[in-house]
Amino acid sequence: MQTRSLGTTGPQVSALGLGCMGMSALYGEADRAESIATVHAALEAGVTLLDTGDFYAMGHNELLIGEALRTAPAARREQALVSVKFGALRDPDGGWSGYDGRPAAVKNFAAYSLQRLGVDHIDVYRLARLDPDVPIEETVGAIAELVEKGYVRHIGLSEVGARTIRRAAATAPIADLQIEYSLISRGIEDEILPATRELGIGITAYGVLSRGLISGHFTQDRQLAPNDFRAHSPRFQGENLRHNLNLVEALRKIAEGKGVTVAQIAIAWVLSRGEDIVPLVGARRRDRLAEALGALDVTLDEADLAAIEEAVPPGAAAGERYAAAQLAQVER
Ligand SMILES: NC(=O)c1ccc[n+]([C@@H]2O[C@H](COP(=O)([O-])OP(=O)(O)OC[C@H]3O[C@@H](n4cnc5c(N)ncnc54)[C@H](OP(=O)(O)O)[C@@H]3O)[C@@H](O)[C@H]2O)c1
Repeated sequence: MQTRSLGTTGPQVSALGLGCMGMSALYGEADRAESIATVHAALEAGVTLLDTGDFYAMGHNELLIGEALRTAPAARREQALVSVKFGALRDPDGGWSGYDGRPAAVKNFAAYSLQRLGVDHIDVYRLARLDPDVPIEETVGAIAELVEKGYVRHIGLSEVGARTIRRAAATAPIADLQIEYSLISRGIEDEILPATRELGIGITAYGVLSRGLISGHFTQDRQLAPNDFRAHSPRFQGENLRHNLNLVEALRKIAEGKGVTVAQIAIAWVLSRGEDIVPLVGARRRDRLAEALGALDVTLDEADLAAIEEAVPPGAAAGERYAAAQLAQVER
């Protein structure tokens, strides 16, 4: 397995991480046994980075990862690094009610996560979205205290802008920023990526397949459950979807020319953007995982990269990456 470093202060991790969110939430029904088998297959293939959030189905995802780790061979379990997001507030109906980055809340969230995961430390711990009422220095400072006590190894950030990144980095060493980055979500390139590079902070890129939209498997007529994120995501609606799937067809021509799949092109493109970037892939099944891992063997030369840029130029997607209310919660 190829490896990359999560920034200058973070750990060495597999060049692809496994994002486990869809195994519990947001993408419709998932199969628990297949989810655990997928985590095991990833660990077996040498994937060492598993990403979760304590709010993915209110602890369900952490319990699932905990079970997968407990039932994995000891050698694989010991290599696994778990990255956890916290801070999102939920209600019993599954609703979302803001973010809590207060120091006491940080410690409370961490205590529950350690218990659910069944581990004695969390490898990378990060606030999911900025809490507008709490200065980032206070939240990062509280995680730094958890680092001192050995409950957390590294501090991460999620979906924050360059100013917050700089303030956080001035408070404590930051391993990585988790943020959406893909062929059709290139918003980080202007300000955020230059800032993380200057500060030696790595990127764990999520949504590299744009939540399946540019995987080559998504179709116009796919039925989505009402609680599926994509049922409300602007890029998956009507005309926008039609436009975006045309981009996928343009990518498919390039993929076929290279004897690989569309998903592999999309993941390989993110991998090609820099050694400081670790794509998270949201595979929920072993076949999808195997396809994603195949991207590690895809080499994109200058001509391939130019053809990909021509097929999907920056800003080519129709629709924002989040609906307005969620977009308001990410710093840009
Ligand atoms: N920090 C944040 O704000 C944030 C936000 C979102 C996610 N994340 C993290 O990033 C991870 C990845 O995000 P994501 O799940 O949205 O990303 P993604 O990899 O862009 O999308 C995953 C979806 O793509 C589809 N897919 C089709 N072919 C695939 C293949 N070969 N490999 C993998 N997936 C394939 C799957 O849908 P089907 O199974 O339906 O085919 C899967 O549910 C999450 O699991 C989570 O840990 C972080």
